[in-house]
Order: sequence, then C-alpha cells, then structure tokens
Amino acid sequence: MKAEEAKRRIDLLRTEINRHNDLYYKLNKPEISDFEYDLLMHELETLEKLFPEHKASDSPSQKIGSDISREFVQLDHEYPMLSLANTYSNEELIEFDRRIKKSAGRDVSYTCELKIDGASISIKYSDARFNYAVTRGDGEKGDNVSANILTIKSLPKSITGERVPRDFFVRGEIIFHREDFRLLNEARLESGEQPFVNPRNAAAGTIKLLDHVAVAARPLDCYLYYLLGKDLPSRSHYENMQRVASWGFKVSDAMKLCNSIDEVVDYIKYWDNARKNLDFDIDGVVIKVDNLDLQSELGYTAKTPRWAVAYKYKAEQASTRLVSISFQVGRTGAVTPVANLEPVFLAGTTVKRASLHNADQIKLLDLHCNDTVFIEKGGEIIPKIVGVDGEIRSPDSRPVAFPSSCPECGTALQKTEEEANWYCPNYRSCPPQIKGRIEHFISRKAMDIGGLGEETVDLLYSENLVRNVADLYELKAEALAELERLGKRSAANIIRSVRKSTGTPFHRVLYALGIRHVGETTARTLAHQFGSIERLAEASREELTKVPDIGPKITSSIIDYFSDTDNISLLVRLKEYGLNFAMPETQQIESEGILSGRTIVISGVFVHHSREEYKEMIMRLGGKYSSSVTSRTDFLLSGESPGPSKTEAARNLGVQIIDEESFLLMIGQLS
Ligand code: IVH
Repeated sequence: MKAEEAKRRIDLLRTEINRHNDLYYKLNKPEISDFEYDLLMHELETLEKLFPEHKASDSPSQKIGSDISREFVQLDHEYPMLSLANTYSNEELIEFDRRIKKSAGRDVSYTCELKIDGASISIKYSDARFNYAVTRGDGEKGDNVSANILTIKSLPKSITGERVPRDFFVRGEIIFHREDFRLLNEARLESGEQPFVNPRNAAAGTIKLLDHVAVAARPLDCYLYYLLGKDLPSRSHYENMQRVASWGFKVSDAMKLCNSIDEVVDYIKYWDNARKNLDFDIDGVVIKVDNLDLQSELGYTAKTPRWAVAYKYKAEQASTRLVSISFQVGRTGAVTPVANLEPVFLAGTTVKRASLHNADQIKLLDLHCNDTVFIEKGGEIIPKIVGVDGEIRSPDSRPVAFPSSCPECGTALQKTEEEANWYCPNYRSCPPQIKGRIEHFISRKAMDIGGLGEETVDLLYSENLVRNVADLYELKAEALAELERLGKRSAANIIRSVRKSTGTPFHRVLYALGIRHVGETTARTLAHQFGSIERLAEASREELTKVPDIGPKITSSIIDYFSDTDNISLLVRLKEYGLNFAMPETQQIESEGILSGRTIVISGVFVHHSREEYKEMIMRLGGKYSSSVTSRTDFLLSGESPGPSKTEAARNLGVQIIDEESFLLMIGQLS
C-alpha cells in the first residue's frame, strides 16, 4: 500500500471508529458488533505502525471512547480508568504469557475472570461508607451517577469487615440479569416504547437516566472485579477480591487463580460453553497478573494495562453469498443499504438480509456482488456482514456501487461532511419520505391516530387520497369504505381517530411535524419556551440557541423548516382543521415573569407538585430549566433525597439551594 492510500484509509478508519465510539458509549445504539469494531481498530493500529508518519495523539487508537454526557457533573478519577487489550486467539495469549514471564524473570500466576458485558463503574468508599460512583467517561474523568447507583439493592451502602481501608475504590460492571432484561423489554413493548437492543445497552442507558426514581424501578445489579487504593489488604488481586466479597460486595465466584497459561486456556475453553447457562451476558474472559507489585512493574500503555488481557469470544458466524444490495429511503431521506443474502442458518434463525448502515461501511468491507461474506449476530442486534472471503472472489465480480441518485425518485443524492449517510433531498415528492412523514405523524407518541398503520398509509397514498399530513383531515368515510382492503367499520374508525387527534397537545403536534432533529423532549422544550407555533416560526437563530439543550444543528433545522413555503401552507391548513398550535394560556411563558433570566436545576422528590409540573412552572414564569448544575445556575430547587451529585456541585460552585416550600413562597404560590 502506498503512503497516500494508507493515509486515506487511516482517515476513514479514524472517522468510522470515532462514530462507533459515540454510538456505543454515548447513544447506546451500536451499529456493529465488538468483533467488527476490534477488526477496524486492529487495522488502524497496524497501519499506524507501518506508516508512523501518520501517527496522531488524537487518533482513536490512542484514547478510549468516552461516555460523558452534559447532563451530569464530571468527577476526576483518582486512578485512571482504562480499557483492556483484546485478543481472539490462543497464540496471542501465549505470546502475552511469554512477554510477562520474560519481564518477571519467573513463572507467573494469573487471575482469570469472566468479562462481564455491562457498563463499567468506579465506586469510592470512605470511612466504610459509599462516597460516590462515577462512569468510565474518558478514562480521566467520568459522570457522577451516584444517585442512580445507590438504587442497586445488592450494592452495600456501608460495610463492615476486616482490613477495610479508610478510602478505597471498587470497580465493576453494572448489568441486567437476562430474565430482568426480558421483563423490562416486554414492559417497554407493551407501553409502546422502543425495546433495548441487549442487556448491556439497557444497563448503560439506565445509569444515565436523569430520573433516579425511574432507575430505582429497574432491577440493576453490580459485580465487582477490581480493588484500588492505598493500604489494600493483600498484594494478591485474587485475595483482595475474596476480601471484597467478604465485605458484602458481589464478586463472581467464577474467578479462578491459575498457575500456568495452560490452566488459563482450559478456563477459557470451559466458559466458552458454560457461558450459555449464566444468567447474565459475558463477552469473554479477563486474564490478570495476580501480583500487584508485578502489575506496577509492568505498568500501562496510553490505553491499557500491560498486566492484563481480554480474551474475547467470537459471536457465532456463518458464511453465505451476497446476492444483491437494496437501498432503502427513510422518512428523513437517508439512504440505507441492505444486503440480500442467500438464506443461511445462524444461531437459531434463517438469515436472508443483513444491515450495512451506510456507504462507508460498503467501502470499508470492499464488498463485491456475489462475494462470499461472513455474517454474524452480535447479541440481539440484527445480523451484520463482518467480512468478505477475498480468496474465493470470482474474477468477474464488480464492486458494489452506492447509487448517485435516489432509488425511489431519481433525484441526485447529497451528503454533508459531518454525516455518514447520503440523503435524497427531494423532501417534497420522494414517495417513501412522504409516506414516512405521514407514518411518523400518526404514530403513538405523536398524534396517536389509531386504525392507521404502514399498510393503510401505503394504500391511501397509492389511491391518491393522501399526499401530506393535512390531507388526513379531509378524508371522507364514504371514500375510504369503497377501498378494497378497508370496510365500513375501519373507515369509520379512521375518521373517528383523525377527528379525536385534533385534541393532541401542542408539544406533541410539534413533535408530529417531524422537523429533523426535533424529538419528543426537544418539542416539549420548544413548546414551553415559545408558547405557540407563530412565536417559534419567528424565532431568530440567537433566540433559539439560547434555549437550554438546543444546539446549532437543531436551530438550523428549525429555521430551514419554517423557511419552506410548503411547510407554512401545511401548517395553515392544519390550523384550520383545529390542531393545537399553542400551549394553553395557563402554561404560556410570562416573558417578564418572576423567574425571568434565572436558570434553575431541580433535584429530588417533591410533595406539592411533580417534577414535570415544576419544570413547566419554571418555564412559564420566564425561568430556564437546566438539567445540570454549572456556574451559570442561579439555584438548585431541592426536594426529598436530592441527587448527591447535584447537591455536591451546587455546594462546590456556591449555587444557592432552596427547598420546595421556599420556592413556592418565592413564586407567590404559598402564603
Ligand atoms: S479489569 C485496568 N475485569 O471490560 C483493568 N474489566 O474492555 C480494567 N470488564 O472497562 C478492567 N469484566 O468495563 C476488568 N472482570 C473484569 C471485567 C472487566 C468486564 C469490562 C470493563 C472494562 C472493559 C474493558
């Protein structure tokens, strides 16, 4: 490979790995399996070694992915929280053992542990009591999620036992047991919420919820695998973990002290099979040098300890033929490639299709039609193509070409620098975009129009009865009843639900419009902040960016939406049909209200009103509600058992803390 080509490949790999880091750590929506991720990272590391002139300290090979979110207060890790080097092969494991023994100059004992697949946490205890809990973050600092971690029943809040150091850290993994995960997803499906992809994502998502009462309702658990601090009970990691267990912490009893690499290999082999019977997910085994002094001697690289390695189990794979690729166009115009495969049996089901995500993915895999591809099921994620068997590629095969025009309407596709997707810009008349917008409009969390689903929307569209969401309000029962697949009853049902939907509150109507990047929460914030669609439509860029949690991306999208004359005519029509385009008077913001110019954070449980009601009150009285305490916060409204992180941040920053009654007095609602 030439240096120039290598540079292009390195850049592509860095962009992709950074994107996957955000998907995994920040959004809890991974698009690729760990194995595919590790392959990308391995390729990047190899290229950076071969072409050292392209090394860079900000390369994802040099730092760990970050889970930090703005909503939490960040705390520094007293001991950095690193990642682990991975291997999938016995040869590399034996090489690891050889290196360690060479450094040590003697035989070495290893502690073998399960690599539990959850979200990592570092918990500090001081004077035998829980002090705080922090996520891995960027390794240097993480989010203070103490309030959420305190809801975990199996985690001791104060401890008794022998040789407890004055201050110590326990690190471990927050998880959902498989059965609890199943029940959680069942409940989510029932209430119309998106199910979680796997227990790890559910755990990582839950510890980042802002509402710790909601967290308490979910049965999280925590296994510990590491003790850190001064004056530890022993110089053996294994003995320390036995001690941690005796203090009341959960430590997996699968942990084993091995005196040779052969014993380690046996341990790995045993758990590859036995892991199916565990009641939580693991993705491998962690092998650690047991002696803490030898650990310090071996030290760390920028990202990982040299004294440990993770042996990861490969997800089940199958190989099959790539028949063709279809390109699907979604509501926002994003074009997603889907691979059509020769059916193959994999981990319990027959797989015919696999997702590919975007054009970069096709390029990364260098896919050709008719290729023999490897597919894999990672957790419960839909199957993915993870590699190509280049050796049996037929010489006449052509690389898969990403279309330059929309497969549905023929318009030339567009792409911005920041996004991985290609978009069809034909917002007005590209059929799947129109149908997608209608489907979004009628969905449960938007206008909740029952009796209409994807198929009916398709029918109404093809019969030319509906071309946009306003047309729904012009539908006549007689015309609907005449359609072949609908009867009188369904027709009446549709008309009834459409009529009923005019009562939907403004914030949901705003969400239903499907303005790009305006999700449920943003719609609610905007509705409260501006009070009516007219005020929102007139808002300047400056006014919009001043609103908490509204960044430049959302601002641009709102401005674009209201600059489109078609959208304005649509809104005029919807208003005529009686949809709510303003908050009720009582919930409108008083621009010169008693709280105007004040930024307020809420924490804890309240007696007189719910948290939601307080948020609305703050906004209505001209104040700004914010989810995290910063130097710009005016005060913290604190109820019963407030989150320790917010209280601590308020104290540190000198932010005034007021209780519920004082707040009500202040706004004149309590005499
Ligand atoms: S030791 C410096 N032990 O795997 C030592 N990690 O890929 C770092 N993990 O961030 C961690 N089970 O979240 C260790 N028995 C175990 C583990 C474990 C799961 C996670 C942990 C870590 C990640 C690294």
